[in-house]
Order: sequence, then structure tokens, then C-alpha cells
Amino acid sequence: MAFMTVQTAPFDDQKPGTSGLRKKVKTFQQAHYLENFVQSTFDALGDCHGQTLVVGGDGRFYNQTAIQIILKMAAASGFRHVWVGQNGILSTPAASCVIRRYQAFGGIILSASHNPAGEHGDFGIKFNMANGGPAPESITGAIFKNSLSISEYQISDSDDINLSETGTQNLDGMTVEVIDAVADYADLMAELFDFAAIHKLLTRGDFRMRFDAMHAVTGPYAIEILEKRLGAPEGTVINGIPLPDFGEGHPDPNLTYAEELVEEMFSADAPDFGAASDGDGDRNMILGNNVFVTPSDSLAILAANADLVPAYRGGLKGVARSMPTSQAVDRVAAKLNIEAHETPTGWKFFGNLLDADRATLCGEESFGTGSNHIREKDGLWAVLFWLNILAARDLPVVDIVEHHWQEYGRNYYTRHDYEAIPTEQAQTLMQHLEHQLADLPGSQFDGRKVQYADNFSYRDPVDNSVADKQGIRIGFEGGDRIIYRLSGTGTEGATLRVYIESYQADQNKQHLDTQQALADLIELAESLAMIRDLTGRTAPTVIT
Ligand code: G1P
Ligand code: ZN
Repeated sequence: MAFMTVQTAPFDDQKPGTSGLRKKVKTFQQAHYLENFVQSTFDALGDCHGQTLVVGGDGRFYNQTAIQIILKMAAASGFRHVWVGQNGILSTPAASCVIRRYQAFGGIILSASHNPAGEHGDFGIKFNMANGGPAPESITGAIFKNSLSISEYQISDSDDINLSETGTQNLDGMTVEVIDAVADYADLMAELFDFAAIHKLLTRGDFRMRFDAMHAVTGPYAIEILEKRLGAPEGTVINGIPLPDFGEGHPDPNLTYAEELVEEMFSADAPDFGAASDGDGDRNMILGNNVFVTPSDSLAILAANADLVPAYRGGLKGVARSMPTSQAVDRVAAKLNIEAHETPTGWKFFGNLLDADRATLCGEESFGTGSNHIREKDGLWAVLFWLNILAARDLPVVDIVEHHWQEYGRNYYTRHDYEAIPTEQAQTLMQHLEHQLADLPGSQFDGRKVQYADNFSYRDPVDNSVADKQGIRIGFEGGDRIIYRLSGTGTEGATLRVYIESYQADQNKQHLDTQQALADLIELAESLAMIRDLTGRTAPTVIT
């Protein structure tokens, strides 16, 4: 066994996006492609000698092949100890949990989240720091820079590691410890929530729940926690076996892609509570009997009910939401008299606020919610938080939501996505919007007056770093907003996301259909951006 130095040449497309590097599997399968990115990452981290690492992924096609390469490269770069999830599995939240529990130097997570998997699907890789959270822009920028000038990488020529059994093995002087992928995470959940109360709820016989793991990574976690530890009947978790192609599905927990669950939750004999998670387990969708809870409302409701959960009983230090997320949680923060932060899209922007204890709960409209227990959003955590609330309040989901609106008002909210637009068209559209920004403030549209119009810029209050051009915001007096941004996670052309929000304090007007309630703002959003004219699209691809 020996370490080898392999000559290579740079690829020019290894710039990490909103959440690491995501590409088609066949891109990653090119000779040296993964190796270049891994070496560029290790080099960006400085001296890796004697360091410790966590490695795992969502189990999609190419996961194990990539892990074998990464382990051999980690050994050649001097890492001392690596923890790997059994069979190469670690959900994104579990990886964050394991990095923190074992005080590792960092971790490599292999996932393209909810993007379709399989040989013709997507693959992804990202690095998380010692705090368990995604690498900040200073590191991802350095990785990209290294990737543009790389000329060689180091790798061991050892045999593959056996990932199917727990225990320690040696790889050219580096210890590889294959760990149970679920246990540490499940233990952490038991520390945070009132498992006794949830157990009682799930076993009392008149409460039914359904969890859709969508054939992705959360299956084993949900079965262990919900069915084994909390006593929910077998079969509570559906599609619980992770498959390398996610059963040819699109494991994005929303009303469009989680059809099976949505159909059941909107049927005559619907369970009391339904939830789903995505490919790598960090997203969540919450449903009640014939009701869908928007992620922005869910975040606000968790914040308003946090005192019911043992881990948060001492009070929240603050809350944070991504800019496009509705302002519902801000109203809760105002009432609790705690800080409310507005950050750019992407979980990495919450890291400093969590580390500095300036935010306890965080969330994004894109079905992501989490807290200071780890440094990633966490799908099952959100589900358990809801179960904890349901156990404590003994009310149906719909009542909890409606009581919330009565108290705080309702933020009607929708997101319209236009997927796979040719990149040039999308850029023209954004420029066209940008050109209008200076003139918009003060203009009136259907009785709404524009209060501000800008391209969102964020100054991190902890380290003062600045992130510019994070999305176009058009804000109206009274709090209504239209926001436009281009996705940073797509792998085909550009995806335009349009976010529309309107606040309604009047209880008699809180029960409209969301698309109807927002119809005039939706029309305005289309006409300001000239979506039809500039892209030829007459309707969004996905509405959430
Ligand atoms: C999307 C979501 C964003 C989330 C990210 C990673 O990014 O909008 O909130 O953090 O996926 O899950 P986008 O494609 O919009 O850049
Ligand atoms: Zn995800």
C-alpha cells in the first residue's frame, strides 16, 4: 500500500452553489473530477495531518464509489481518523450531529438533496466545518480557486474499505470507523423532545400519523425513531427503504412531488398528522387532516410554541429566516421580544447566528427548519417538534394553525418556480428587473405603494462579511412583498423563483385559497418581470 501523486488538469465548473457542488452523475464520473474537487477542498482547509473527518451521504447512486475515493484521499492527505456511516449512509442532519458529537475537524456530505438520483440523475458533495455547518463562502471560494489551478492530487492505492459492518479498519495508517448511521442522531432527538408525551400520543389509538420517506435517506431514521422508539404502529413510515435512484421519484417534500402522502392527507379518511422529508433528510413538509402548513407558517408556529418543548423551555435567543421566507416568524419574535434576523437564501448564513447564540430557531420557505441543536436544517426534528406540540396541546393541526393566524394575522404566501429556463433569458429578465429598481419606490399598483425596491445585500452581524445581490425585493407599504431570484442549486439552465407574500390581519379574510388571495400580486409579479415575454413561459413549472 502506498500513497500516489496523480497528475490532473483543472475543470472550470467546480464552483460550489447554494449547497455545495451539484452536477449530473456523469459529470462526477469523469476521470479526476471528484478527486480534483476533494483535493481542492483539503487544500482549502490547510494542514489536514492528524485531523478527523466524518463522511456519509444520502445513499444515492455513486455514493459508495465516491466514499471509497474520498477515504483513500483522506489517508493520503494525512487524516488520522474518519467516521463513516454504515453502508455510506448519513442523512445531512445526522452528519452535522456526528461532526459535533465527535468533535471532528469537519465532514464531507454526499448529496444532491431532493434532486432526482440514479445513473442519469444528480450527485453532489459539500464540506461542513467543525461546528457541523456548511463551509462559509471564504472556504467555498478558496475551494473554487484551487480547483481552477490544480495540477495533481494524492491518493492511496489501498483496497476498498468494507462499509457494510460497523467497527474500525485501517487504511494506510488512517483509522476508518464505520458507525451506526442512526443511533447518535436518534439519541440527540430523545434529548431535545418530550419522547414520553409523544409516545403516549402515538400509542393511544385515536391518533394516526403517516411519514413519507420517499425512498430516500430518512427511512431508517424515521423507522427507528417513530416506530421503534416512539411506538407508532408499523407502517406509519411509508417508502421507508432508501433506494439508489429514490424509486425513480423526486424526493422533494412538497404538494407536487409527495403525491402519495398528499393524496392520503386530503382524503375523507385522512390521518391526523402527515409529514415527509427529502433526499438527504434535511427538509420537511407538515400536513394535518386535509390541511397543508406552509413552511413559513410552520417556522412561526414552532417559535410561538417553543416553550412546550423541553430543549427550548428556557426561551429562544432569537429567530432567523431567509429573506424570501414569509415574515410570519418576525411577528412572533416581536411578541416574544427577541431578535429576528433576515439572511440570504441558504443554510450557511444561519451558522454564525447560531454559533453566537443570537438565533435558536431558523427556517426557510423551501421546507427547511432547524435549531441550534446542529448546523443544518433538519426534517425529522421539525416532525418531532410538531408531534411534541400536538401531544402537549391535544388539538388538531388545523386548529393550531388557525389559532396562530387569529393571534398574529396570516401571511398568505406562495412560491412560483420556472425551471430550466435558458440561462441567457433568465439573466436578461433579472437585468430588466434590476433596471427598474431605482424608479419603483413610491409607485402605486392597484392601491399598493412600493416602499422599497432593491437587490438584497446582507451584512453578517457576527463577522461583518457582506453577501450582495441575493435577490430582488419589491416591498409594499403594509408588508406585502414580491421577490425574485435565480436558483443556486439547479443543474439544468436557470430556475427563476418568484416569491409572493401578503399579510392579512382580518380574521374574516384568512380562509381564502392562497393563489386566489394573492392573485393580483401574482399578476403584478408577472408583468413587472415580463416573464411571458422574456421566457415564453405562460405558467410556472412548480407552485408551492
Ligand atoms: C434551494 C432553496 C434554499 C435551500 C437550498 C438548499 O436553493 O431555495 O432555500 O437552502 O435549496 O436546500 P436555491 O435553488 O433556491 O438556490
Ligand atoms: Zn435536502
